[in-house]
Amino acid sequence: MMTRSPTVPASGRKGVLLAGGEGSRLAPLTRAISKQLLPIYDKPLVYYPLSILMLAGVRDVLLISTPQHLPLFKSLLSDGDAWGMKIDYQVQTETRGVADAMLLAENWLDGAPSILALGDNVLYSTGLSGLLKQAADTETGATVFACPVRNPEQFGVVGFDGKGQAINLEEKPRRPGSEWAVIGLYFYDETAPEKARRLIPSTRDELEIIDLNRLYLDEQTLNVIKLSRGATWLDTGTLDGLVTAGEWVRAIERQHGFKVACPEEIAWRNGWIDNADLSALANQHKSEYGAYLQRLSARAPCQP
Ligand code: DAU
Repeated sequence: MMTRSPTVPASGRKGVLLAGGEGSRLAPLTRAISKQLLPIYDKPLVYYPLSILMLAGVRDVLLISTPQHLPLFKSLLSDGDAWGMKIDYQVQTETRGVADAMLLAENWLDGAPSILALGDNVLYSTGLSGLLKQAADTETGATVFACPVRNPEQFGVVGFDGKGQAINLEEKPRRPGSEWAVIGLYFYDETAPEKARRLIPSTRDELEIIDLNRLYLDEQTLNVIKLSRGATWLDTGTLDGLVTAGEWVRAIERQHGFKVACPEEIAWRNGWIDNADLSALANQHKSEYGAYLQRLSARAPCQP
């Protein structure tokens, strides 16, 4: 691996990928398999947030899931070496809330800044790599992304003052003060685990990520990036959302002839693996996915 110098250097940030929960809203689809392993058209759901971490330059990832599902993720992703990455695993025994991820990851992070990605979020945008790098380069505080939605009451919502400054955060408010939902991608400085330790469980008995973000807001170190109309953020929490995401990926891939959220391709474009590595990965899949990787591996190494 890493036979040529990386075009995207490893950022100092480590990635935490939260892929637990019961997926109860999708039962019986989720009775024997993790929600984050369900297909979004041609690849498992978890590939999408993992790809976002990779686009942000993250090579070190901790994947958190349930005791039942963690072995499935291990068999899919292994130790990450084939993609020029390092993937570690951590069990979450109970769904104690999204912010619990920062407690579970504390030792593993070992003082590093992080990116927390929710394993069920699909994000695609023009200029996404640039936005992610901008967020990754902001050293102090936290950076979150907000996206306008028709149903803000189903998400964490950020409110702004007249000057566009974030002024409040609410989790699933009955009467949302804005249409801006906070998506499941959070860039944190090294103080996040310590802040997570200060949280108390909400009325639904979870450590809420919005409460962690509010600590940054109170310190005036919360940076909110508004996603433009060129961005698509898809919620896969419901059956319709899952199907819509698959249809959307299929339409984009058919129209443009490239794949959305293909980790092997991103590793190659980042310079973490070379053409021979990519070709070997392609040979593992006797499918259209494998043929796509093989076609890429015949090209000159790309610059991002
Ligand atoms: O998708 C963005 C939204 O994600 C944000 O706008 C909200 O502020 C944030 O709280 C979160 O809301 P959700 O209602 O979507 O969270 P949910 O409980 O569905 O969990 C999100 C993912 O994290 C899901 O794939 C399951 C996983 N998870 C969740 C909890 C609570 C875990 O792995 N462990 C947990 O303890």
